[in-house]
Amino acid sequence: MKQLNAVITGIAASVPDYILTNEEISTMVDTTDEWIMTRVGIKERRILKGEKQGISVLGTKAVKELLAKTHTGTEEIDVLVFATSTPDHFFPSSASIAAENNGIKNAFCFDMEVACSGFVYGLEICNGLIKTGKYKKIILVAGDKMSSITNYKDRTTCPLFGDAAGAVLIEPTEENIGIIDTELHTDGVGYKPLLMKAGGSKYPSSHETVDNAEHTVHQDGKVVFKYAVSRMTEVTENIMKRNNLTANNVDWLVPHQANMRIIDAIIDRSGLPREKVMINIERYGNTSAGTIPLCLWEWESRLRKGDNIILTAFGAGFSWGSVYLKWGYDGDKI
Ligand code: UT7
Repeated sequence: MKQLNAVITGIAASVPDYILTNEEISTMVDTTDEWIMTRVGIKERRILKGEKQGISVLGTKAVKELLAKTHTGTEEIDVLVFATSTPDHFFPSSASIAAENNGIKNAFCFDMEVACSGFVYGLEICNGLIKTGKYKKIILVAGDKMSSITNYKDRTTCPLFGDAAGAVLIEPTEENIGIIDTELHTDGVGYKPLLMKAGGSKYPSSHETVDNAEHTVHQDGKVVFKYAVSRMTEVTENIMKRNNLTANNVDWLVPHQANMRIIDAIIDRSGLPREKVMINIERYGNTSAGTIPLCLWEWESRLRKGDNIILTAFGAGFSWGSVYLKWGYDGDKI
């Protein structure tokens, strides 16, 4: 039997309508548009407003659009994986909610939590499932409702995050396209510098955890920044070298969108011209697992079959990794 590759055959995404600007954030905490733009590079972010609106709202919409644009029947889906750190509930999974909302009944569905690295880790999981030969159509959803775990009284974190979800359809192919190589890492040294402390089994929700604002993201920004730059540049370099890729034959680099200065450092080390790097942090901020699919979705019409694409992410854990993809279709023809 010929080797099966896992290839992305469609992409969709969903962002909320509400735009939270730096001007509005400046009315909530002591900050300025100038500080946020120069230190982070974010102008605005999307926020999912309203009661009882979990990440499954965005995931459901992204899956719906994906099924429609790829002309895929709900009964054809074998697996639905949802990479998120902000599920609607601990259980049931947001994957099962997004599947149910779309009438997907023949798939097994589960959530996975790898913070901002959720999409690249998710691709590796789906790659393995496709290679078994048992599954023909898999949906990977990745995204977060970061506004649900952001402390809007903390100026060091509240300008950073936004809400979004993306979804890709992944299928087997015998062509030399799709996921060609991956390199993923985890280092538990990241436990303290990037943590949402309470709400899990170690510190269950209590009046005290709420009073102490322990249900929101806490990070030692400088430590996370240093690790993010060094690990993302390292893993990007590794995957390029191993696959004989240079600035000339990489068509697109898609870095996780956490800080423009981190993205700049990766661009410098990769030697790639800026035009080959997908950047939309200014309009969406850090949507955690959502950043990379959101970029691919926005750039879809410019992607060509066979394009060499490098994805690179870094997040809590610490977790990080790169994926080398050969794009599966002409993005303007879908
Ligand atoms: O998604 C994966 C994980 N996350 C990341 O990759 C994020 C990595 N870290 C970062 O992006 C940056 O460290 C931050 C954007 C979080 C912070 O930028 P920084 O350049 O590292 O700033 P800092 O924390 O060193 O703070 C510098 C100064 C401090 O004032 P003093 O102590 O020098 O007087 C802060 O209090 O800036 C102050 N500051 C602010 N000032 C205005 C911090 N936040 C703000 C703010 N507005 N929003």
